[in-house]
Amino acid sequence: MIKGFSKLTVPQKVDALMQQFGLHNDFKETLLQHQHTSLQELYNQFSENTLSNFFMPYGIAPGFNINGKEYAIPMVIEESSVVAAASKAAKFWSANGGFKTKVISTLKTGQLFFTTHWTYHELNKMLTEIEDTLRESVADITKSMQLRGGGITKMELSQEAEVDEHTCCLLVSFETADSMGANFINSCLEEMGVALKNLLISKDSDRHIEINMAILSNYTPDCIVECTVECPIDKLKAYSGYYSAEEFAQRFNKAVKLATHNSHRAVTHNKGIMNGVDAVILATGNDFRALEANVHTYACRNGKYSSLSKLTLSKDTFCYTITIPLAIGTVGGLTRLHPMAKLSLQLLGNPNAAELMQITAAAGMANNFSAVAALVTSGIQKGHMKMHLSNILTSFNASDTAKTKAMDYFSDKTVSQSAVKRFLDDLTSSGKS
Ligand code: MEV
Repeated sequence: MIKGFSKLTVPQKVDALMQQFGLHNDFKETLLQHQHTSLQELYNQFSENTLSNFFMPYGIAPGFNINGKEYAIPMVIEESSVVAAASKAAKFWSANGGFKTKVISTLKTGQLFFTTHWTYHELNKMLTEIEDTLRESVADITKSMQLRGGGITKMELSQEAEVDEHTCCLLVSFETADSMGANFINSCLEEMGVALKNLLISKDSDRHIEINMAILSNYTPDCIVECTVECPIDKLKAYSGYYSAEEFAQRFNKAVKLATHNSHRAVTHNKGIMNGVDAVILATGNDFRALEANVHTYACRNGKYSSLSKLTLSKDTFCYTITIPLAIGTVGGLTRLHPMAKLSLQLLGNPNAAELMQITAAAGMANNFSAVAALVTSGIQKGHMKMHLSNILTSFNASDTAKTKAMDYFSDKTVSQSAVKRFLDDLTSSGKS
């Protein structure tokens, strides 16, 4: 074990790791290559024991028309085809009515769990007094949030009877304006825990009261955004490939029904939405772990994991909607500290949190629409494989000439690691690489 790792300098940490795990100089070289020449100090501050940076592609999906406004959406994603698929759908839908988005609600919640010998009914009777005292206890923290239009909206008490009869939860609802609000909510809740304990002790010091924990809930079923695209069915010919536009719409409808009723399919369907959503969340410095936990819990809200999207087909019209919980911010956290996140927000016109929710939902819609459209027509491998081939060629250090020849050769063939290797070997032995 490396003792006192966190106290070592960066070069000492690297040496200690190399020694302990028998690593060679290329370990150090790769770390050094990925360090930033001027901003490393800043990046080091974001986390602990930082040795270097892990780069991800930063791409742009242009041409999004969202509620009549044009956006070029920044996407941080390592999976090939995601940015291309988003761009293609953006172009199509922007020419066919655009992405119509709306924020349904923006409420977030926090939980104060406590165990006490006060009964649930006694506490519930005192709820107004409890609420007043707790609001008062966090007046300093909520003051500036209130000026920005946020604050505490309500408190509800529940009994955690499945845990034990003495444990309760105070569910506190918050509006957090343009911040995701995690720090604000957690600070309020911790302070409220102290105030609740003091209040109950002041009423009866003989009765037990103990705070179990105070933390926001990452599940936000009341912080919801919706994105809809709609067009006459005959316009879908642009996507329908071998099928007629009507057949394409029917096949798409079947795909959405499968994702609604079959949970295994729903997970993959929703993953296609998250390709776009996560890419924007990363590009804007938001918390993708919170978002993932939230979205998938929401997808189970009716007791079974299901699709986040819904299709309404009438005789002539294709109307497709995605509904997702997105608790995100445009101030606080890394959003303004990370130079690339700040840049992304500038590119998007410095949106407020509600606008960013809508942009993100549109990106999710674009990726999901492209994925399902491909699945019900040509399959996804055709589009994927072009980028995949390029990655395989790079991994074999293929020359530019060999790459061009391989792209041409594989345009109508199945791409695999071994097939590409065989092709490159043949090229080398024929002296044409
Ligand atoms: C791949 O990243 C995403 C898809 O699997 C989504 C889907 O199946 O709908 C293509």
